[in-house]
Amino acid sequence: MDTRALVIIAISLAASSQNPPPQQPVRPVATPEALRQQMEAFNRALGVECTHCHVADEWADASKPACAVARNMMRMVDDINGRLLADVGTVTCWSCHAGQAAPSRFPAPELEKRLAEWPAGCRRRERRR
Ligand code: HEC
Ligand code: HEC
Repeated sequence: MDTRALVIIAISLAASSQNPPPQQPVRPVATPEALRQQMEAFNRALGVECTHCHVADEWADASKPACAVARNMMRMVDDINGRLLADVGTVTCWSCHAGQAAPSRFPAPELEKRLAEWPAGCRRRERRR
């Protein structure tokens, strides 16, 4: 039996109604080893511990906001590699995060300066922050 099955059974046994039902994985993995490698890569890429995204020992509990963001990031990365930039090369979490949980965005003043040079129709709405 693999880790995922054990985790789900353990949580069912705990009968805690706070746990949302296990979700469909974004990336179904073949083995516990593949899952472990993927999760360790997340730790390295974001410079965090497992509990940044997970409630300790409640691995299938997806209630932490970072977990939901991570799922969307996984979808984004898979779409980039599978479709949008399929011929460019592999993008990973590290490509943007490089060891930081919240990688800095383009500095605001520099961005505003460049946007001012764009044709009016191409300027996007006001920055939100
Ligand atoms: C950046 C956030 C993040 C970090 C850090 C992270 N995980 Fe995860 N973890 C996820 C997400 C998102 C999923 C769901 C994956 C999917 O949908 O394919 C997941 C899935 C899992 C699962 C499977 C749960 C299930 O539903 O069966 C286990 C077990 C797990 N992680 C353990 C770990 C361990 C151990 C670490 C540290 C070495 C870790 N994770 C670090 C986000 C994270
Ligand atoms: C194209 C660039 C890019 C890639 C690739 C990327 N991220 Fe992100 N991610 C960001 C940016 C930028 C932010 C910060 C958003 C903000 O400023 O709020 C972020 C934020 C996050 C956050 C929330 C911040 C926090 O404190 O927890 C999580 C979790 C996360 N990313 C996980 C991942 C994971 C996991 C992957 C790989 C599957 C990934 N990201 C790939 C750009 C990226």
